[in-house]
Amino acid sequence: MSRYEELAERFGTPLYVYDLDEIEAARRDLTGALPEEVTLFYALKANPHPDLVRALRENDRPCRPEISSTGELAAALAAGFRGADCLYTGPGKTPDELREVIGLGVRLFSTDSVTDVRHVGEAALAHGVTADCLLRVNSVTASATSSIRMTGTPSQFGFDSETLAEVLPLLRATPGVRVSGMHFFPLSNAKDEDSLIGEFEHTIALAATLSADLGLPLRFLDIGGGFTVPYAVPGDRGSYPRLRAALTAALDTHFPDRHTEGPEIACESGRYLVGASGTLLARVSNVKVSRGRKFVILDAGINTFGGMSGLGRLLPVSVRLDGDAPVEPASLVGPLCTPGDILGREIDLPVLESGDLVTIPNAGAYGPTASLLMFLGRPAPTEVVVRGDEVVSVSRIEPRRAYDTVTGTRPPTTAGAAR
Ligand SMILES: Cc1ncc(COP(=O)(O)O)c(C=O)c1O
Repeated sequence: MSRYEELAERFGTPLYVYDLDEIEAARRDLTGALPEEVTLFYALKANPHPDLVRALRENDRPCRPEISSTGELAAALAAGFRGADCLYTGPGKTPDELREVIGLGVRLFSTDSVTDVRHVGEAALAHGVTADCLLRVNSVTASATSSIRMTGTPSQFGFDSETLAEVLPLLRATPGVRVSGMHFFPLSNAKDEDSLIGEFEHTIALAATLSADLGLPLRFLDIGGGFTVPYAVPGDRGSYPRLRAALTAALDTHFPDRHTEGPEIACESGRYLVGASGTLLARVSNVKVSRGRKFVILDAGINTFGGMSGLGRLLPVSVRLDGDAPVEPASLVGPLCTPGDILGREIDLPVLESGDLVTIPNAGAYGPTASLLMFLGRPAPTEVVVRGDEVVSVSRIEPRRAYDTVTGTRPPTTAGAAR
């Protein structure tokens, strides 16, 4: 019996298996591709599982958490980080949320608007502290092409670079905050190393120009990410043999005094650090033919893996059987009672039958927590964390309805049903 068969037998399916050794390898490869002085943030949105987050902390060059909710902060704290280690991002931070996270020690924020900075300042003042605000910049120009571009167009993210000068005096005068740097996140999942380097070079040059033009010295500069790994299809993580030298050269040109005067430089990654660590195991519940077309129905659908499919980012996934199986065209669908539960339409699949175990590779990022976990009320998938042959933890997310304690409303009783 294969290792995956054994785990599936033991813990049931759908089952995520995450390998901590692979996470450590990804972290080592990525930090090795960056200049020594660059801080690497891990974006918990890729996978907030505390064991994975902890693995990114417990090593010789720890990542810091990039978070954007109280839930992600809880995961970072559970993994042993302090609030002060975190960078808190997102365009819609609420005053309540800000008060809560500042109370838990968060001090560094990426901010996206005048109102956002004001809210951070008010929450900081309520705690008697000063918060550091990075201004997220939505650059009017861009360099590379990517699958997910997040800048250069009208956006809820960041300050438009061309109008930053107008609002800066207001931002700098906001009580409770110190404007201490800039944050860029122009793209995710860069298509190759040249695109990534081009985007970083563009970002570094732009940050230097803006800083000089605005008279805004930078204590901290987050130049974003874009590191890539295949998503639910076979393949290897990207490798970046030229990145370190290219970044060093760009930083030497634009920030030659950074080792003594600053800014501290940071990058961010989600998917690269955890994507290849994860494999999703699912069983075929049924295979049916409708009007000459084959449908392979798995016990895992967009409730388990593929919240992102609604955003057009997932299709099609690739499933594997052990060994060399012949392939045939079929649609791969999940168990949900909605025609939208499709993981791949008319794709080449191994010839499958009911009960077969399939594996979906490179499924460690944007898995359960990026899926429609609660839609149609099926249990969340079990998540097993392993290190080599050792099982480190077995867990499952359990959404439940919590009743409001102020009004004291309660779950409906079953008394009426008995009548
Ligand atoms: C601000 C920010 N940081 C980091 C990430 C992580 O991106 P990736 O998983 O592609 O590395 C994202 C993704 O949307 C993001 O918006």
